[in-house]
Formats: sequence, C-alpha cells, structure tokens
Amino acid sequence: MQRLTNRQIVLGITGGIAAYKSAELTRLLKGAGADVQVVMTPAAVEFITPLTLQALSGNPVHLHLLDPEAEAGMGHIELAKWADMILIAPASADFMARLNSGHGNDLLSTLCLATEAPVVLAPAMNQAMWRDPQTQANATSLQTKGIRLLGPGVGEQACGDTGPGRMLDPLDIASQAAALFDRGLLTGKRVVITAGPTREALDPVRYISNHSSGKMGYALAEAAIDAGAQVTLISGPVNLPAPQRCQRVMVESAEQMLAASLENIDQCDIFIASAAVADYRPSAVAEHKLKKGKEEIMELHLIKNPDIVATVAALKNKPFTVGFAAETRDVVHYAQDKLTRKKLDLIIANDVSRSDIGFNSDDNAVTVVSHDQVQPLPLCSKRQLAAKLIDIIAAKQPR
Ligand SMILES: Cc1cc2nc3c(=O)[nH]c(=O)nc-3n(C[C@H](O)[C@H](O)[C@H](O)COP(=O)(O)O)c2cc1C
Repeated sequence: MQRLTNRQIVLGITGGIAAYKSAELTRLLKGAGADVQVVMTPAAVEFITPLTLQALSGNPVHLHLLDPEAEAGMGHIELAKWADMILIAPASADFMARLNSGHGNDLLSTLCLATEAPVVLAPAMNQAMWRDPQTQANATSLQTKGIRLLGPGVGEQACGDTGPGRMLDPLDIASQAAALFDRGLLTGKRVVITAGPTREALDPVRYISNHSSGKMGYALAEAAIDAGAQVTLISGPVNLPAPQRCQRVMVESAEQMLAASLENIDQCDIFIASAAVADYRPSAVAEHKLKKGKEEIMELHLIKNPDIVATVAALKNKPFTVGFAAETRDVVHYAQDKLTRKKLDLIIANDVSRSDIGFNSDDNAVTVVSHDQVQPLPLCSKRQLAAKLIDIIAAKQPR
C-alpha cells in the first residue's frame, strides 16, 4: 500500500454495522503515515464508541456541528479546509441520500459541503437497501458529482443475506484511498526542484542567509511525486525530512545549488526554482574565524551570485522553467517583469510582506503569472497549494 505520510484524512463514520471495521481502518491509515481526524454521525456512536476511535487516531473525535467548544477548537470550516481527503466508511444509505441532496444537518454532511478536498465513500448496507432504485440513483448521481465510491463488495452480510452491499475490507479501502492521491498527471516526467535558503560563507563559522524554511519547495516535491513524477530535490539547509520516493541533494551555497541543478538538468522536463537563493555572497571566504577588531564599522565586500533559474532558462534544451518571485510590493508587476527578463515559462509570485503567509508559515497565497494569464490562488496550506500548483504546471508544460 502507498504511504500516506503527512496526508490529512477526515474519516467519517456513519450508522451501520460495519462501523466496527472503522477502528481497523483508522489503525491502517495511521500506520501508513496519515494524520486522521474522525467525525462520527449521531447514529454511528450507537455502533462504536468515540473513545475507541480517539485512542486509535490519537485525536479527539468530532461529533457535533452545533458545539461552541468544538467550534472554538477545530471548527467545521477549519476541519473542511484541513482535510486532504474526506473518507466515509461505512457510508449508510441514509447518508448517501443526504449527501446527494446537499443536506448539511450534521457535522459530517456539512463538512462534505464545505470542503474542496475529494470525498470518498465506502457504502455498506443490506443488499436490498443497496439494490433499492433510490439508493442506486443516489450512488450514480454522487459519482457524476465527482464523489468516489469504493465498493461495495458482494458476499455474506451481518443480517444473514448474501449479495452486494458489504463494506470492502479496511485494507482494500485504505489502499484504494491511498492510490487516489497518485494522480498520474506527471507520470514519466522528470522534475528538478530547488528549495530552502542558501548559505554564503563569510568565514568557517559565519554565513549570510535568509529565513526560507523550504516548506513550499518540499511540498511541491511531494505533490510532484504524487503526480507520478521522478523528482530530484536540490535543497539548501532546512529542518525537513527528505520526502519519500525522491532523490534529495543537499547543498549550502548558491554556487553549489547551481552546480547540482546543472548536473541534474539532462532529461529534466520541468525545473521549479523555489529556493530563496542569496543574490550576493562575500567576495572572499576567510580561512580562519574573523576576529573582532577595534573598528566600529566593518565592511563586507559582496559579489553577485549566479542566477540559477535564468541560467537554466537560457539552456539550449531548456526544461519547462518555473520561477518564484518573493516581493513585498507591486508583486504581479515585478513577477511579469521577471518572467520576461529571465525567459521563464511560469512564475509564482509571493507577497512576503504579509505575516500570515510566506517564508516560515505553513500557509501561503500566491499569484501564478504566465505569459497569457494572471491567476490568484487564495490562502491555503502549503501542501494544498503545492497540489494546485502542480496541476497548473502539468496542464501548461508541453506533453
Ligand atoms: C442494527 C442496525 C444496523 C444498521 N445497519 C445499517 C447499515 O449497515 N447500512 C445502512 O445504510 N443503514 C443501517 N442502519 C440504518 C441507519 O443506522 C440509519 O439509516 C441511520 O439514520 C443512519 O444515520 P447516519 O447516516 O447519519 O449515520 C442500521 C440500523 C440498525 C438499527
């Protein structure tokens, strides 16, 4: 089964006998690396205790829509935005009917209305309930609205009947849900991404650097991997673990980052320069630690660093080249200028003057600027934003 590292999954449980299998499903999702928040309908609580799911998920279980305390913690809109996927297992016939009609009369149905994340259902019910024409119409209608159905399976049922309507085994549900993250948009493509800051040495113990955390570049690497790409991540010094299924090259200075980029550029289809590369470096690196002198003022001589993204964009067989523009004013204007001047294909403009987004934040809002389009992407987590950016890049790059 594909890993679910860093995936944020809302596991919805509705009132059906198969709810006991949700405990195992929670364990499997957690075991694969996902962060799981469980939401139960009032009926589900009659079948399995929230305490069991709380213990297995490691998070408080969400039960009520109209609960001032819960709203003060992780409210329904926050939970809807938090989710990378809402997986509902078991999904009762009644819940499917409510979802199809657009009801928001409990926490789980409201979350489904409020989320932009994929909603995935594992129906579970008696075979006659599943065959019922209205349930069938609901299932078809939900699918046409983009909701995924996993199963149901066919076989012996808790009520003694045999037929379609059994909830799939938890392992099948977890595997199929995990596979849905693999979107295949960049299958067969080689993507090189730079991330994080660079460090420009002054002497053996000091350097000039910036506040880049690398989170955006690492999120882009994860999203590109999920889209099926073969990813090389060239990273400055950051405090982040290497994403799985990716080659990571650690560097320090802008010159090392350029060298690593050029070493990996052959057969590269897409180059995404998200690193915050120092524009200048000290002209000389002292061999020994610089001593404090008598002078009140110390002058540093800086020389220009190579422009990595412009160097890549100027290559004869250049890949589809994406740059980042971190600006504090006139963001779109500067981005358009940089796009043309550096001969890039796409630029992602970031307003780093806002404290709620940018460098060290987990969230970001950007404007995607291409030669024919200016597309603002509103505030969301860097991981969700990365998935949207990879969708846009995949659509724009030559196939
Ligand atoms: C013992 C028992 C078992 C049930 N099992 C199921 C089931 O497997 N699937 C289903 O769709 N409904 C089942 N129901 C009916 C649902 O619990 C009922 O439709 C409920 O309103 C669903 O609420 P919910 O969708 O908000 O969780 C069962 C009811 C009882 C009393």
